[in-house]
Amino acid sequence: MALWGGRFSNAPADAVFALSRSVHYDWRLAPYDIRSSLAHLAVLQSSSLIAQKDAAAIRKALNELASEVLSGEFTALPEDEDVHSALERGLTLKLGEIGGSLRAGRSRNDQVTTDLRLFSMDHMNEIATLVCELNDAILKKAKDYVNDSAPGFTHIQHAQPVSFGHEIAKHAQAFSRDLNRINDWFKRASVSSLGAGALAGSSLPLSPELTANDLGFDSVFANSIDAVSDRDYVAEALFILSLIGIHLSRIGEEWTLWASTEFAWAKVADEYSTGSSIMPQKKNPDMAELARGKSGRLVGNLVSVLTMLKALPFAYNRDLQEDKEPLFDSIDTLLLVLPAVTGMIATTEFDREKMALAAPTGFSLATEIADYLVRKNVPFASAHESAGKCVALCEASGRQLHQLTDQELANVHASLDGGVREVLTVSGALTSRTTSGGTAPVLVAKQIADTLVLNGQYAKKIADRAQAFSEMMSA
Ligand code: ARG
Repeated sequence: MALWGGRFSNAPADAVFALSRSVHYDWRLAPYDIRSSLAHLAVLQSSSLIAQKDAAAIRKALNELASEVLSGEFTALPEDEDVHSALERGLTLKLGEIGGSLRAGRSRNDQVTTDLRLFSMDHMNEIATLVCELNDAILKKAKDYVNDSAPGFTHIQHAQPVSFGHEIAKHAQAFSRDLNRINDWFKRASVSSLGAGALAGSSLPLSPELTANDLGFDSVFANSIDAVSDRDYVAEALFILSLIGIHLSRIGEEWTLWASTEFAWAKVADEYSTGSSIMPQKKNPDMAELARGKSGRLVGNLVSVLTMLKALPFAYNRDLQEDKEPLFDSIDTLLLVLPAVTGMIATTEFDREKMALAAPTGFSLATEIADYLVRKNVPFASAHESAGKCVALCEASGRQLHQLTDQELANVHASLDGGVREVLTVSGALTSRTTSGGTAPVLVAKQIADTLVLNGQYAKKIADRAQAFSEMMSA
C-alpha cells in the first residue's frame, strides 16, 4: 500500500519500486513501529485530533496487529514498500479510512529513526548481556590459572614469565571497556525523534516530550532537522560492535595458536571444535577462527554507514535507508559469535605442566638479572648489557641462565653474586612483580575479584534496563 500518490498520474516503474523497497529487511522494526504508533496515538487523542471512539478502535487494532505480527499471522506482502506502509495497510484492513489517521503530525522520517533508536537500544542491551556473560566466563577461567605460569610474549617471542590467569584476564579488561562504551552510548542514543515530522516539527498541538516519556527515552530532540537526519547512534553502535568483534578476533587468534600442535597448550572441548571431511584425525578450533574472521564484516558495516553519511546533506535523504542492513547484520553477527566464544572459553582446558615448562625458556628471566643489578645501584643500561652477556654465554654453551656458574656470573659483572639465583626462577620472577596491575599471583587474584564485581555491576544495570524496556514495550 502506497503512502503517497495524489499528485502523480502514473504509478512508479517496477524498477523504482524494487529499489525503494525495504520491507524485506525493515520488517523487524514492526514491534517498535507499533509501540511508537501507540505513543503517537495517545498524543493525538489527548489533543483531540482524533475522536475518542476512533482512538479506542485504533488502539485496539494496533494491539491486535502487534500479536498478529508476533505470531506471523500478519506479515508484509510483496506490494508493501516498507514496514510503515505494511502496518498502515494492516490498520486500514481492520478499520477502513480511520486506519490512516496516525499520519497526522508524523512523517516516516521521524518515525523510522524513532523505531531504529528503539530497536538499537533493545539490541545493544542484548549484546551487552552477552558481553557480560563472556566476561564472566573469561574471569572464571582466569581464576583457575592464577598460580600457573606461562611464558608471556612480545612479538610472539618469549618475553617474561606471567601468571596464565593474568594472560586470560586481560581480555576481561577489554570487554569491560566495551560495556562502559555501551552504557555511554545509551546517553546519546536515548533521545526521541518523534514529533520532528518530515523536518520542521508540527503545526498540530503534539507533545514530543510526552511521546518521549511514554517510549522511555531519556530526552527529546532539540532540533527537528537534526532529529530526522542524525544517525550518530547507528555509527557509534557499529563502532562499538566492531570493537567488540576486534576484541573477539584477538581471542580467536590466541586460541588458534594455543591449540596448535606446536603450542599444544589449549585443549578445546569437542563441543566447541569441528572436524575435517577428509582428514579423520582433525580437530579444528573453528569457533576461534570464525570469531577472528567475522570481525571483517563488522568493520565493513561500520565503514559502509560512515561512507553513506559522509557529505550527506544534513536532513532526511533516502540514502539514510541504507543505515539498517549494516546495523542488523552487525547485531546478528555478534548474537551468533558471542555465545560460541563464551562456551569455547568456558570449556577449554590448558596444559599447566607444558606452560610451566615453557615459562623460563627463551631466556625469559633475563630481565630479572638486569633488575637484580639495578637493585645493587648499577645503572640500567649497564645492567641490561650484562644480562645480555649472560644470555650470550648461555646461547654459546647451550645452557639456561640459572646454569651459569658463580664465577661466570662474577666475570660478567662484579655485582652479580649468587643472590641472583633467587630471582632466576619463574616463581621468584612472578611473585616479585607486585606493582599494581602486575603479574604477581596475589595481585592477579585481586584483579580478577575486582573485575568480577565490576562485571556484576554492569550485569545489574543491563538487567534493569532490559526490565524497563520490556515494561515500556508492553505498556
Ligand atoms: N524506508 C525509509 C527509510 O528507511 C522510510 C522513510 C522514507 N521517507 C521518505 N520521505 N521517503 O529511511
